[in-house]
Amino acid sequence: MFYSDDVVEEVRARNDIVDVISGYVKLQRKGSSYFGLCPFHNEKSPSFSVSPGKQMYYCFGCGAGGNVFTFIMEYENYTFPEALKMLADRAGVALPEQEYSEEAKKQRDLKSAVLDINRMAAKYYYYVLRSPQGARGMQYLKGRQLSEETMQKFGLGYAGQYSDALYRYLKKKGISDQLLKESGLMQVNEKNGMYDKFWNRVMFPIMDVNNKVIGFGGRVMGDAKPKYLNSPETVIFDKSRNLYGLNFARTAKKPYILVCEGYMDVISMHQAGFTNAVASLGTALTSQHASLLKRYTEEVILTYDSDDAGVRAALRAIPLLKAAGISTRVLHMEPYKDPDEFIQALGTDAFQERIDRAENSFLFELSVMQRSYDMKDPDAKTRFFQAVAAKIADFELEIERENYIEAVTGRFGVSFEGMRRMVMNVLMQGVPVRKTPVRRQERPEKEDGIKKSQRLLLTWLTEYPKLFVTVSQYVHPEDFSDELYRKVASMLYEQLQRGELNPARITSRFTDPQQQRTVAQLFNTEVPVESPKEQEKAIAETIKKVMKYGIEQRTAQLDPTDIAGLQKLVDAKKRLQELGGLHISL
Ligand code: GTP
Ligand code: MN
Repeated sequence: MFYSDDVVEEVRARNDIVDVISGYVKLQRKGSSYFGLCPFHNEKSPSFSVSPGKQMYYCFGCGAGGNVFTFIMEYENYTFPEALKMLADRAGVALPEQEYSEEAKKQRDLKSAVLDINRMAAKYYYYVLRSPQGARGMQYLKGRQLSEETMQKFGLGYAGQYSDALYRYLKKKGISDQLLKESGLMQVNEKNGMYDKFWNRVMFPIMDVNNKVIGFGGRVMGDAKPKYLNSPETVIFDKSRNLYGLNFARTAKKPYILVCEGYMDVISMHQAGFTNAVASLGTALTSQHASLLKRYTEEVILTYDSDDAGVRAALRAIPLLKAAGISTRVLHMEPYKDPDEFIQALGTDAFQERIDRAENSFLFELSVMQRSYDMKDPDAKTRFFQAVAAKIADFELEIERENYIEAVTGRFGVSFEGMRRMVMNVLMQGVPVRKTPVRRQERPEKEDGIKKSQRLLLTWLTEYPKLFVTVSQYVHPEDFSDELYRKVASMLYEQLQRGELNPARITSRFTDPQQQRTVAQLFNTEVPVESPKEQEKAIAETIKKVMKYGIEQRTAQLDPTDIAGLQKLVDAKKRLQELGGLHISL
């Protein structure tokens, strides 16, 4: 961070969050908070809340959240210094100029220069495709049934036969070799010096959600290898945080997003009217992709290839999406390979029908699991149902378990009562069931459970600061499970120790909007409780849970020679036992 904490805090404190956000969103007071329609996702009833007390906002629909800086960064797509500058101007706070570090300025200039180069390159490829030189590319794309309009929408282009055409073009524009190297569009070797990365390929510009070109995919027009070349990661291109087509899909106003594997699949789906399709950039889906998707949708339909690789990719994606709070269904593509081929063969209506019939991800996992059991063998069949019962037992809520038992009954022809008893057995005795590979994916869910408890605890501390005296006896910042949580917890503890409570200030200590969003989530987690009694019970339970988890973590990581650490753990365990009758009163 290049501005001192004090400057940042002054700017923040002088920009009341309700005031600022009111300039963008119509807010209405409800209790101690204000509510409005979330500007970061499509919704019909308001789940976007602004708390004057915490000076933070949070959307219960899409998870967007943070302090006044986060809001401006996200809404205006500003960097942190830009948001700070705007809010400083707004409140008439003079920013000390010299605080802009040289390093930061350089980085910002580099990013915008690389963006410029990518934009120029996209224009160039676009122009070449439509010139006589681009005839081969045009013929290829038309052969793949793309309309002129589609090619235009996706800015498709062509890199011609010369391996230095773009290089020469950009040199004429006066760009230095140093910058060209940073752009990812050039290669260098001793013999030829610098030359184009892409030639003889149709070009797919990759845009971020703000329609800025951040990289390219280039496809050969035949069977040569590699089929696709992609820009390397650069200062502006991070494959694990961008999705192809999201710039269009995010405004598609459909309740779900279609996630597929390839550029051509995205384009083909958009052309057929499925403008809510996206693809990862030649890599597996990451948890960052999942949280990116969560900003725009509650549901994902996986439209991966029907081959084994596609099934494996789906099995990996499902738990990541679940951990981000997205529910997932899986579309059956058989007998076709991918959405492009499916739509070419059967058309739009048939594809829509497959979307409507896409399978619940849990049942999909079970079907895949079933393939490794010989269902004609009674023993194997029993083992399969035991494994199913174990998976169902992992659902937190009884109603969820019942629903899945019912679904499984219909699907695999087992009796409702029989399955229910098996699930009960798992729950009562923790019957050891043979683990199948699929079970490994349950980890993120459990992890998510404990993290939710940790978030609840931090939220409650901001809502009932009096709890601090009790909570701090049992739970320490190092009990939290990830680095960001630990940092936030220790800052909050520090504040509460001083008798100050200022979550928005803690948020400013993080300048990455993704982190700010997580911090907002830490201070805005809720569980439905019916009464104050229940609330008190929930708090006591949560303290125990977080403490227990912290002890487990520390036990696992303890260095056996660390006697002091061991002693601390023994003490903590003793205190955990005494906690049995912990009573919280609000
Ligand atoms: P078409 O074969 O033209 O229909 O393209 P596709 O999008 O269906 O390709 P495919 O299903 O084979 O691959 C899916 C995605 O993986 C592509 O869109 C690329 O992002 C990536 N990919 C495929 N082949 C390669 C390759 O050879 N190298 C790299 N780096 N990525 C590839
Ligand atoms: Mn394809």
